[in-house]
Amino acid sequence: MTPHIHAELGDFATTVLMPGDPLRAKFIAETYLDEVREVSNVRNILAYTGSYQGTRVSVMASGMGMPSIGIYSWELFTEFGVENIIRVGSCGAYTEKLKLHDVLLATKVWSESSFAKTQNGETSPFNEPSAKLSQFLSNSAKRLNTPIHSGIVHSSDVFYRKDHMSFQRIHQEVGALAVEMEAFALFHNARTLNKNAACLLTVSDHLVTEEATTSTERETGFKRMIEIALASLQD
Ligand code: ADE
Repeated sequence: MTPHIHAELGDFATTVLMPGDPLRAKFIAETYLDEVREVSNVRNILAYTGSYQGTRVSVMASGMGMPSIGIYSWELFTEFGVENIIRVGSCGAYTEKLKLHDVLLATKVWSESSFAKTQNGETSPFNEPSAKLSQFLSNSAKRLNTPIHSGIVHSSDVFYRKDHMSFQRIHQEVGALAVEMEAFALFHNARTLNKNAACLLTVSDHLVTEEATTSTERETGFKRMIEIALASLQD
């Protein structure tokens, strides 16, 4: 039991899939997992454990933003025996190389966030995922014949920026292909605690073309991403 997760040691599998939205966590649990049970629901941050094709796995929401995923990933890693967290989220595209619904594997994240500096004094704006988990995800996408992109992702603390074109500079200077709001903190916690984290994203909106997906369309890309994450558990 931790301040934010009311569960017991043993309630979580060693690998947790982590969408931002609690209803996505519920959808994944109900659609894909067998012998599934809810293991925590504090603040409606729903968490489930079940099995996928015989492998035990958990799914838990992160909420939005780095403070939120920072809390849940830290407690999962330190108190519940979790070794691997795979974020399965959405992102806004910074380049026309990405289309709506495409799936992107984060190979590195860049952030102007103070999360790492505040947490343990680290000042690098970059963080990296686990090479092993990321390789499992890209192998899994190949096995499923699902093309995915991979590249640098911007983790932002701010959704609504005064200068909404500032993404052009971040794309040019850092090479970020897309923006989301959690991976930097997740990767930082994992590295700091000697655990593993990776991040798969589907493109839900486009900052260049200004298109956005409808909620029905979002489901299609989301399902492809979840299936890649679940199939990676076989490795
Ligand atoms: N997640 C999905 N779209 C996003 C955007 N445009 N900015 C930040 N996070 C996002």
